[in-house]
Formats: sequence, C-alpha cells, structure tokens
Amino acid sequence: MIDLFPVVGPILRSLDPETAHGLTVKALLMMEKAPALMPGGGKDDPILRSRVFGLDFANPVGLAAGFDKNAEVIDPMLRLGFGFVEAGSVTPRPQSGNPKPRLFRVPEQGAVINRMGFNNEGLDVFAQRLECRLASGRKAPGIVGANLGKNKDTAEAADDYVLGVKRVAALADYLVVNVSSPNTPGLRTLQGRDPLRTLLGRVLDARADCKLSKTPPVLLKIAPDLTDEDKADIAAVALESGIDGLIVSNTTIARPAEIPEPLRSEAGGLSGKPLFAPSTAVLGEMYRLTGGKLPLVGAGGIASGADAYAKIRAGASLVQLYSALVYHGAGLVGTIKTDMAALLRRDGFASLADAVGADHR
Ligand SMILES: Cc1cc2nc3c(=O)[nH]c(=O)nc-3n(C[C@H](O)[C@H](O)[C@H](O)COP(=O)(O)O)c2cc1C
Repeated sequence: MIDLFPVVGPILRSLDPETAHGLTVKALLMMEKAPALMPGGGKDDPILRSRVFGLDFANPVGLAAGFDKNAEVIDPMLRLGFGFVEAGSVTPRPQSGNPKPRLFRVPEQGAVINRMGFNNEGLDVFAQRLECRLASGRKAPGIVGANLGKNKDTAEAADDYVLGVKRVAALADYLVVNVSSPNTPGLRTLQGRDPLRTLLGRVLDARADCKLSKTPPVLLKIAPDLTDEDKADIAAVALESGIDGLIVSNTTIARPAEIPEPLRSEAGGLSGKPLFAPSTAVLGEMYRLTGGKLPLVGAGGIASGADAYAKIRAGASLVQLYSALVYHGAGLVGTIKTDMAALLRRDGFASLADAVGADHR
C-alpha cells in the first residue's frame, strides 16, 4: 500500500483543522468498506507483544482518546497498525462542545492546542456503534478502550461516569475515567484525594454491578499539570482503590516558551512535541510513586520510535499518540513499531515487558 500522506497531508493541513479531521474520519469510513485496501503492515514483531492488565496486545502503540470521540473508526484505525484504539471521550448526553474555532495547529513546534470541550454524540450512539461492531463479525484484531467523560452541566460528576460504565462495560476491552481534560470546568478537581477516592469507588462498584464474566480493566487518565502532593495522592488512591492502571497524560494547560503568540494565548490543552518532556517526567514520577505495581500508559508528544521507547523505559507498559498523526500521517505507526523493536534488541531486551521502567533500575 502506497503512503498517500506526502500528497494528502499538505492538503489537509491547508484546511481548518477541524474540517481536516472530519474529512479524515470520512475517508477512513470509506476505506473500511474495503478493508482489504487498508494498509496494515502485516504481522507485528513478536518482541512487541505483551500482556497488560489481563489483555493481550500485539503491539504497544495505541491511538489516544479524542481522535475517535464517537467510536466511528475503531476498525480502520486498528487496521492501520495500532495495537489498541481508545474511543471517546463520551458523555452520557450528546453535547456540542465549545464554540469554533477550538482546534489549532502549532506547526513549527509539532504541537496542537484544543479546547473542544467533549463534543460528542452521547453514550447511546457510542454504545450502539460498539454493539454493531461486535455483532458484525468484521472487526479488526486489537484492543478497544472506551474513554468516559462527564457532561458540562452535570453537577454530580460520579453519576455520569457510573452511567458510562454501566452502558459500555460489556462492549469495550477496557474503560478509562478521564478526569484530566482542561476544557470541562471543574473536571480536574476530581483528581484531588477525597473526590478521587469517592469517584473510583463508585466506578468500581458500578463495574461489579454489571456482573460480567469478563471484567474490563478500569484506568484513570491524569493531567500533566499536578503538584507533588497531587501526584502522591493519586498514586496512593489508585493503589488502594484497586483500579487497574493509569494513563499519563492528557494535554497541558502550560505554555512552554517555544509556543509563539498569538497561538499561546488560545485557551485549551497543548499536546504534541512540547508535551513530551513534561508528560514523560510525570510518567516516571508515577512509576516511582506506585513502585511499578500499577501498569502505566504513556501519552504525550510521541512522534518517533525513540520517543515511544523512552516512555517504556520511564515506566509505561503501553503508549498512545494523537497529535503526531497530524504532522506525519498514519504511516508513523509502522515506523514507530519497527524502530521500537530495533531499540529493544539494541539494548538486549528479550521482550517489551523487560524494558518497562528500565530507567529506574
Ligand atoms: C483534538 C484533541 C482532542 C482530544 N480529546 C480528548 C478526549 O476527548 N479525551 C481524552 O481523554 N483525551 C483527549 N485528548 C488528549 C489525547 O488523548 C492525549 O492524551 C494528548 O493529546 C497527548 O498525546 P499527543 O501529544 O500524542 O497528542 C485530545 C487531544 C487532542 C489533540
């Protein structure tokens, strides 16, 4: 399969970013009608296989939440070579999100700023798509996560996450409690010790109430903008609550010096290259604070195999990316996998799992 991105990429980047994203999703939906035409790069190198929170991953490279908010293109994205795809964030009721424009490229820095505000079609549409997919018999191999959010106007946040868990627990391989988007007022205060303890307790009770033979792991997705006290509290609550892992991290509200005006004044979360160093530092810190006992998913600024490998060495068992696709296209997924496998072998690791947290030893 020829990589069309050198031709299509500049055209997409000449359009408004949200229009470009919409067209990309439409193209993926069309390609899914002819799955044989989708590039996939064939079988993954066995050194990239791993078992994390009870699930078998053919490779550790995932699509981060926010690309497929409405669970429309899970299979095409898996066919492009991702080992796992996280759909969402989904909220119980549909909502339109913030006024446009709300998505901005920062091209020189390989970055993106977004203040989408959980625009999505709501839990029913999302769950029906997952149901159709499972019933179709045409699903691509790979792991599927459902990332849960709350509606802007819901006062009792935990109620929304409970609704999410009950509706999709049987339909996804893992669930994510997203308390780290900077674009829903008050959301990130749920990362505080007491609200977090209550929230995770209710989420795990809701999961137990589903009485499933196959219980989906529950992960918590955190922000990179946390104090030392926040991080210590999250580590302690995560371990005592019995959740299955953490995703580190969401976008940052910080604006590193390299982000130029007028873009640096746009409100929202910054992702892509400038997020790599701070999110990897938080990842390493969470690995240390949890004593390596809780699987971590590393996200933030991954744009190469070396970046992905650095996240693994810092403590991630899996990685995710989104922003780099805007600048490099989906061909990047294959490159990352090939380069990661080579780096593992260079450093004498027999498996991906052996390299997790290597920087801490
Ligand atoms: C346009 C956009 C929308 C996003 N929407 C969500 C979302 O709905 N839920 C979520 O948990 N993270 C969301 N994210 C954050 C990503 O999942 C990821 O954590 C972050 O972008 C860092 O990875 P990256 O630097 O590879 O993009 C979004 C990111 C972008 C760029």
